[in-house]
Amino acid sequence: MSQALKHYLQFSDLTADEYAYLFTRSALIKSKFKAYEKHQPLIDRTLAMIFEKASTRTRISFEAGMYQMGGAVVHLTTGDSQLGRAEPIEDSAKVISRMVDLVMIRTYEQTKIERFAANSRVPVINGLTNEFHPCQILADLFTFIEHRGDVTRPLDCLKGKVVAWVGDGNNMANTWLQAADLLGFTVHVSTPSGYEVNQSVAGVSNSHCFKVFADPLQACQGADLVTTDVWTSMGYEAENEARRKAFAAWCVDEAMMAVAKPDALFMHCLPAHRGEEVQAEVIDGPQSVVWDEAENRLHVQKALMEFVLLGRL
Ligand code: CP
Ligand code: NVA
Repeated sequence: MSQALKHYLQFSDLTADEYAYLFTRSALIKSKFKAYEKHQPLIDRTLAMIFEKASTRTRISFEAGMYQMGGAVVHLTTGDSQLGRAEPIEDSAKVISRMVDLVMIRTYEQTKIERFAANSRVPVINGLTNEFHPCQILADLFTFIEHRGDVTRPLDCLKGKVVAWVGDGNNMANTWLQAADLLGFTVHVSTPSGYEVNQSVAGVSNSHCFKVFADPLQACQGADLVTTDVWTSMGYEAENEARRKAFAAWCVDEAMMAVAKPDALFMHCLPAHRGEEVQAEVIDGPQSVVWDEAENRLHVQKALMEFVLLGRL
């Protein structure tokens, strides 16, 4: 039964053609939202959201999005469910997926969401794992398309572009690599030593979709988009002090933005730490599109939820 389901566990779960559809659909859904026009294809559908880590944007965008589409939401955390008392993930998946139509999970290991999906009767969406954050990259690409492309031919503006990744070789970096591999752009990756991206963890076979730079300034040279993320991701807090030292030179500053293309955009998935991974002048400056990027989580995930439940409309 689960074979026919459209899970979204990593970026590579959809094809380029499906992304083209989703970006165009996101633009339509966003325009209806802005015009206070109802868009309710998911009346009587229920989304279960399972959070094993904290969230602001992911929770509110999925929860508000589902209500706006006519559906309902159940919110579970490790602390207030049997998930925190060692009920097997497989059993949880079997039970939860008999009662709802769709599940979104934010958890630790990717294997955990894969085990859930393998035992689920309904589609499962990755709301962030240690390895991937596909919903965020979906929003980031849509934001780039809105600013630099055309939503009727959404993939055209991505081809051949350079995205500079400055910072940790983490879930966001891995997902950028998958997106570059699928959609035909290149990621210039600069991480401190010991925090490199791992191509096999990222799950990309094509090593041409990224280039590694020891110096973050060089990674930003000629980039169309400069992006970064926290030095310490959720779940890695014990490494905080070591990371603060190792990452000190991986702060996106005005010098890095100055060597990128003159029209380069700056993105950050948020939450941000000004003075650590990004200077206030950059994130609060004219090239930053972080608020559009955060808002677009709502619109792209509405398109995604509609797509995994109803297909192309
Ligand atoms: N960017 C992002 O996923 O934010 P939250 O952790 O607030 O959900
Ligand atoms: N890399 C960060 C992203 C937060 C949205 C983390 O995993 O904590």
